[in-house]
Amino acid sequence: MAERLVVIGGGTMGSGIGYVAANAGYQVELVEVDGGRAAAALATLAARWDKAVRTGRQDAADAAAARDRLTTATALADLPSEPSVVIEAVPERVELKRQVLREAERLRPDLLASNTSSIAIGALAAVLASPDRFCGLHFFNPVWSMRLLEVVVGPDTAAATTDAALALAVRLGKEPIVVADAPGFASSRLGVALGLEAIRMVEAKVASPADIDTAMTLGYRHPMGPLELTDVVGLDVRLAIAETLREAYGDRFAPPDLLQRMVAEGRLGRKSGQGFYRWVDGKKVVDE
Ligand SMILES: NC(=O)c1ccc[n+]([C@@H]2O[C@H](COP(=O)([O-])OP(=O)(O)OC[C@H]3O[C@@H](n4cnc5c(N)ncnc54)[C@H](O)[C@@H]3O)[C@@H](O)[C@H]2O)c1
Repeated sequence: MAERLVVIGGGTMGSGIGYVAANAGYQVELVEVDGGRAAAALATLAARWDKAVRTGRQDAADAAAARDRLTTATALADLPSEPSVVIEAVPERVELKRQVLREAERLRPDLLASNTSSIAIGALAAVLASPDRFCGLHFFNPVWSMRLLEVVVGPDTAAATTDAALALAVRLGKEPIVVADAPGFASSRLGVALGLEAIRMVEAKVASPADIDTAMTLGYRHPMGPLELTDVVGLDVRLAIAETLREAYGDRFAPPDLLQRMVAEGRLGRKSGQGFYRWVDGKKVVDE
């Protein structure tokens, strides 16, 4: 019997984590409260496996075996205890995550982790009986193609837990970095700082959004400029992170007026069709 890995929450991130874990040989149990969401996750992943076979990235037999290793459940209480790993990926609400993590702890996993992108690991660990076995595992979207994994070490995380998280990351084909439990970890703090400065530069008419992005893509070899990335992530999402980081670090993370105005007007980036760029069917429109 393969090692068991439980993912709680079958949305964007949870289903992606389940996919890479099943491909890495884990017996995956994806716990999703919403039956419709669970069915949608299974359909998305089936299509993903089909595509991997069609494009020659995965053997048909390997894909079928991985697919068979992933099952869904509607409640944690239905699962057997003592899986190797439990990863929580429910919505970003402290009380919900605390409740889910406490329940998950009853399964006595060797490693318990949260995929939170902004909540302090210490704030979640505070309700746990064994906070030493708990850490953050910050995956990136889409999980199957983004190689970075931030391993976030909480105030009580044991060294053995960090080691187990690093080993898991490697097994999942990720490149882990170890980060202290500081707001924004490493990725959001740096990424948002660059994005906010780029927006201030648009406000000050230093250059057009396209030229500011080109400065970073051609001058610094970033694969995508900070304004295009803000469009892809969603201006509302970035505004919320900026507000959290401002509380932690002060006014250097104060959201620029332009960002607040664009969000108030519904110009949220790719998902609304308009941000710093125009988007049609998820693709950036290059105006003549
Ligand atoms: N979307 C991203 O780009 C991204 C990137 C990194 C980290 N994160 C973090 O990952 C977490 C999940 O985000 P997401 O984008 O996948 O959200 P999502 O809304 O797509 O998925 C969350 C899922 O959890 C389910 N759920 C809610 N309560 C549950 C419970 N008690 N038990 C089981 N399932 C439950 C919901 O029905 C939903 O399907 C959040 O903490 C988020 O901050 C998101």
